Amino acid sequence: MLNLIPKPKFQEERFGEFVINSETTLYADDNLTYARDVLNTFIEGACGYKLPVVVSKQASIVFLYDRHVHKEGYTMEVNIDSIVIKASSSVGAFYAVQSIRQLTGGDLIENPDFLTLHALYIEDEPRYEVRSIMLDEARYFHGADVVKNLLDMMAYYKLNTLHWHLTDNEGWRIEIKKYPKLTQVGGIRKGSQTMAWGNKFVDWTLHEGYYTQQEIKEIVQYAERLNIAIIPEIDMPAHMGAALASYPWLSCSGKEIEVPIVHGGSPDKNGIGHMIACPGKEETTFRFIYDVLDEICQLFPAPYVHIGGDEAPKSEWKKCPDCQKLIKEKGLKDEENLQGYFNNKIAVYLKRKGKRMIGWNEILSAKKLDNSIIAQYWTFKRDMKVENYLLSGHDVILSKHQAFYFDMTYAQNNLKTTYAFEPEKYNLNSKTGGILGLEGCLWTEWVPTEERINYQLYPRMQAFAEVAWSPSEVRNYKDFIVRLKKHLQILDKYGIEYCPLSMVNQGGLKRIKAMSEFQNKNAHAEFNRAMSIRKKKKYRV
Ligand code: ACM
Ligand code: ZN
Repeated sequence: MLNLIPKPKFQEERFGEFVINSETTLYADDNLTYARDVLNTFIEGACGYKLPVVVSKQASIVFLYDRHVHKEGYTMEVNIDSIVIKASSSVGAFYAVQSIRQLTGGDLIENPDFLTLHALYIEDEPRYEVRSIMLDEARYFHGADVVKNLLDMMAYYKLNTLHWHLTDNEGWRIEIKKYPKLTQVGGIRKGSQTMAWGNKFVDWTLHEGYYTQQEIKEIVQYAERLNIAIIPEIDMPAHMGAALASYPWLSCSGKEIEVPIVHGGSPDKNGIGHMIACPGKEETTFRFIYDVLDEICQLFPAPYVHIGGDEAPKSEWKKCPDCQKLIKEKGLKDEENLQGYFNNKIAVYLKRKGKRMIGWNEILSAKKLDNSIIAQYWTFKRDMKVENYLLSGHDVILSKHQAFYFDMTYAQNNLKTTYAFEPEKYNLNSKTGGILGLEGCLWTEWVPTEERINYQLYPRMQAFAEVAWSPSEVRNYKDFIVRLKKHLQILDKYGIEYCPLSMVNQGGLKRIKAMSEFQNKNAHAEFNRAMSIRKKKKYRV
């Protein structure tokens, strides 16, 4: 059994095995030397020695350039006396190395003298171009080490995009040189609502933190070495509480507010969902946004910038003379189309900087949007606007709530549902369009620690990786679980928390109970139960 996750497009086990020992030689064509070195670093970490690098294609392990292979794909032939990897890019060769890591089990064995690989032939390439995980650090700031650990695991599972949610009502987490208060004021809140939405418990300890631009650059570089692009999300025009607390002139009323301690997004009685910038004050608001985006675009080389755009209630705009004046002046139908006007201006600005704008699916409520905009489909309910957008040839990223929202309990979004999600059911009649990619989202209102991040993600992230990478014909849940058990041992070895298999697919009454617990009583109940099970079990899976 080959324990690869995600499962390759084609794999065939053959007779015999290849042994990697200190005499095994390594060769790589010019543009594939990076992958060769990554393999050598892995072998050194596992076995304590590096393999000799040679200039002859007669070496035991060879990386060969082949322009016919998919740009992120590879082929690998393992015989008793050689491993031949073919790729058309450094990325594809890098993914071949991730497969070798998984196949040798080198991450699991203690100080082996040698590693073995079953003889095999693999042809592999990704199903989707964007394979993304979203991490929300606005609600809880976790810091560079946590992000790097996540990036390491993402690369292991051939995920290539981190969508980094860096600003929201509850915090602004990235230094912007022109607007220092964004982090000095917006990066700090006096406490945090602790138990669940609508629940009164507050932990009155300061929560603060942000990334300096230097730290951002280091993380971006770290991710690049793992072939992961980072898409920053700067939420606008709503979800801007931390920014409005820093610069009250950004809002319609100009009223001074504090960074909220209560979590909220959609329209709510606490008013948090109404923390929205004023597009009517065109000079000041757009100047601010353009200045912020200038710095953001400098820091992140990825070709996309996410502007959020979700959950933008219009009650402030309805009352605001400036917003109303702009609606009249521009001949806009209503406030929804004022957001459309706002989005188009940002999309055009970003385009001039060589970036495409991404926004959550609600942004499609406006008419006449710029065609370059990428919509991200997250809502639980069907949204025909985004489905039609996809069918009419526009780019869409899918992160449907019921399958890919990893902040939910496992009882709500169970492993089977994540695994069984079939993206193309949203794309059935499409002639021209395509699903650009898939994303698993980890919002962190109730995720204050790395342990909890890991619990929410694993093993859903492994299931997600297979949906995003493997063709649907090779996906099979039972077979996935067999392979997954080996991977959970690796998580154990690295001390990475995960949800035990006995709890990943709870249904029926447990599911109903979990929903009510999570939504308004105790968003930590399932996690606490899982942790007590894990502590009791010796074999922790
Ligand atoms: C979202 O979950 N509000 C995008
Ligand atoms: Zn206004």
